Amino acid sequence: MSAATSPTKIILDVDTGVDDTIALLYAALHPAVELVGACGVWGNVEVEQATRNTLHALAMAGRPEIPVASGAAGPLTGGPAHYGHFVHGDDGQGNVGDTSFRAPVAPVPAAELIVSLAREHPGEIELVAVGPMTNVAVALGLCPELPSLLRGVTIMGGAAFAPGNRTAVAEANIWHDPEAGRAVFAADWDLTVVPLDVTMRTLLTEAHRQRLLAAGGIANYVGRILDFYFDYFAAEAFGERSSCMHDVLAVAVAAGVLEPTLAPTVHATVDDSEGPGRGQTIFDLRGCYQGYPEQEGARCRVVLECDTAFAEPVVDLLCAAGPSRIEEPTRA
Ligand code: BDR
Ligand code: CA
Repeated sequence: MSAATSPTKIILDVDTGVDDTIALLYAALHPAVELVGACGVWGNVEVEQATRNTLHALAMAGRPEIPVASGAAGPLTGGPAHYGHFVHGDDGQGNVGDTSFRAPVAPVPAAELIVSLAREHPGEIELVAVGPMTNVAVALGLCPELPSLLRGVTIMGGAAFAPGNRTAVAEANIWHDPEAGRAVFAADWDLTVVPLDVTMRTLLTEAHRQRLLAAGGIANYVGRILDFYFDYFAAEAFGERSSCMHDVLAVAVAAGVLEPTLAPTVHATVDDSEGPGRGQTIFDLRGCYQGYPEQEGARCRVVLECDTAFAEPVVDLLCAAGPSRIEEPTRA
């Protein structure tokens, strides 16, 4: 962000687990972001827990004035909700979260908060969704003109050339609610997709975690919640302790801090059929052999490459964040 550029207004829709917490802290603390609201959604954990974790992250960062609404408790179809406790811990905070923390939730549901903030700032807000797309799809149903009220939508989700992480082809955020994902991909807005292709290659290492722990305060909290997350990635992905940072990449791309080095704009959709492809994101990447020629009418920018050293500035920001602004946990 240059001195002349104003920060990007962002609404962050989160299923607050470990990486969502980092995304929230980044959005609350980075000068390129003006976080105007946050919404909890089911996914990594139950929606109540996701919303509580969201409030907690913003309170730690000294931003309790940012409205936080609670949203969908399960997928659009009304089918069963499957959570990511095995990845993020039962509390979404690596089982070391502050269980006594309470703070007031906005008096409207998440979808209504999205619509009212969009109406308040027409054309200015980037909606960044980093959990299942349920709240976004509900907001679209509530306000069909929502695309004309937003600057655009950025999501962490899907996989282009990369394999899935929940099935062989499906990434977790899309897999949780493919019908909602399909609605978000079909809507008439500029959509930026930050998929596993880049998030699985942008890693936090044990050395980063030790630096966070040593820095104290907010950074120390992040270092502690990463412990469980590192175990998951060691067992299920990389064979050694490290982790992705998935969601913060979407915030940084939306704010223009992280510039993709390859991000063609292509036609895209989501498979919401009941077969083995359920939850797969399908991008038309047939132009890859000739530098991705323009596709008429395409609105989906898919980030295929970016600077994978992005962990450094994220860790720097967290280490500079200072103490948690929650003085005493509020007892229920
Ligand atoms: C996505 O799924 C969740 O576990 C993470 O928070 C991230 O949003 C990665 O597939
Ligand atoms: Ca998430």
